[in-house]
Amino acid sequence: MEQPLTKNIITGNTLSLKDYEQAGGYAALRKVLKDNSPQQVQQIVKDSGLKGRGGAGFSTGIKWSFVPMDENARHPKYLICNADEMEPGTFKDRLLLEGNPHQLLEGMILAAYAIKADISYVFLRWAYRKAAEIMEKSISDAYAAGYVGKNVLGSGWNLEMYLHTGVGRYICGEETALLNALEGKRATPRAKPPFPQVSGLYGKPTIVNNVETLSCLPHIINNGADWFRSLSVSEDSGTKLYGVSGKVKRPGVWELPLGTTMREIIEEYAGGMTNGYSLKGVLPGGASTDFLTEQHLDIKMDYTSVAAAGSRLGTGTIVVMDDKTCPVGFVHNLQHFFAQESCGWCTPCREGLPWVERILSGLEKGNGSPEDMELLQMHTQYLGPGNTYCALAPGAMEPLQSALKYFREDFVRHIEEYKCPYEG
Ligand code: NAI
Repeated sequence: MEQPLTKNIITGNTLSLKDYEQAGGYAALRKVLKDNSPQQVQQIVKDSGLKGRGGAGFSTGIKWSFVPMDENARHPKYLICNADEMEPGTFKDRLLLEGNPHQLLEGMILAAYAIKADISYVFLRWAYRKAAEIMEKSISDAYAAGYVGKNVLGSGWNLEMYLHTGVGRYICGEETALLNALEGKRATPRAKPPFPQVSGLYGKPTIVNNVETLSCLPHIINNGADWFRSLSVSEDSGTKLYGVSGKVKRPGVWELPLGTTMREIIEEYAGGMTNGYSLKGVLPGGASTDFLTEQHLDIKMDYTSVAAAGSRLGTGTIVVMDDKTCPVGFVHNLQHFFAQESCGWCTPCREGLPWVERILSGLEKGNGSPEDMELLQMHTQYLGPGNTYCALAPGAMEPLQSALKYFREDFVRHIEEYKCPYEG
């Protein structure tokens, strides 16, 4: 099994520039600067079928193709690495940032070349302090080696690169809120369209790509689009960093063929449930996805199959809920997070999420009433897709609506027994 993104990562270690070069690093950059136009790089990535690994799964090559490439295109153009990894239960990008920083930097430089960008940023989660130190040093090493800066490897193309650390807000990972944050404004999402590809940072063409997405690029350039397609065991291409957290024997993150089944990931890689616990539900892609249950364990963890089962692949990191955890309390905890992280810009999200949190808090304490079930159901509609500026509130409604579907009995028992049935 090929694991291109993680094969050189030894847990706890960081691959230095020298080690990365010895393992073939920056060969892809040399290759495209010599042999390929930016448009050709776009085509290779389009052909590879690479989809965004941040959670949305949008085709990377198609996204790039929206950037104006003609002589009249406005400059500077920007390439931004979204390293603001804050989706609950998600810790895959951290492994790549800390373990193989130059793989990411080379991916960023290749993406920047493909859209003829002039300036690039790594937008990093505030809490990733170790990654910040590593990225700072790696960017400086890349400058010293001529991979970024003026006249990249003698090609005549200039690319500046900066590290920007966020302030620890979930919303900064939403690409347009991220752009506002970088501009020093309040981090609220912008209306789309216009999409950043046309009007992004400071109104200029901008691409925002996730860490894992960018880390795939050197391998696609070195080995070709067909090779990348052949890595998966499904219609979607490549490998995926899957992670598991919760009451499993070996929580962690593994790079596996895209389309590996959920059962294999949980039982073989994460070692199965901790003794004495059994599986009640899973969130397949972080916290802003719909619950799936034991009946879904054999689905392939790819974009199409998870969607067909009624959820989303999201970040591909599975949060496992066991049979001793109260689903109402579990969902309440998530809604507390989402309500706290709402940027307050649009009314449904600002007012609706705290309301949902209050209802769930009342239910948990045994103060709920049958009307609460209707109110919760109503919120899943009002805070759903199309009613808010960004995906935060619709994402928050996914675990709620699916908990109401799969674990309804647990909600009803809280109301009928005037207490949490999982306590005492
Ligand atoms: P989205 O589907 O709106 O956009 C995804 C990307 O495709 C964006 O770059 C967007 O510009 C582009 N795009 C989409 N439609 C387009 C069109 N018609 N024309 C041109 N470009 C288009 O999704 P969004 O809101 O960016 O991301 C939501 C996802 O983020 C969720 O699925 C969630 O799983 C994930 N997420 C990940 C987090 C993390 O820490 N990795 C944190 C929070 C959410």
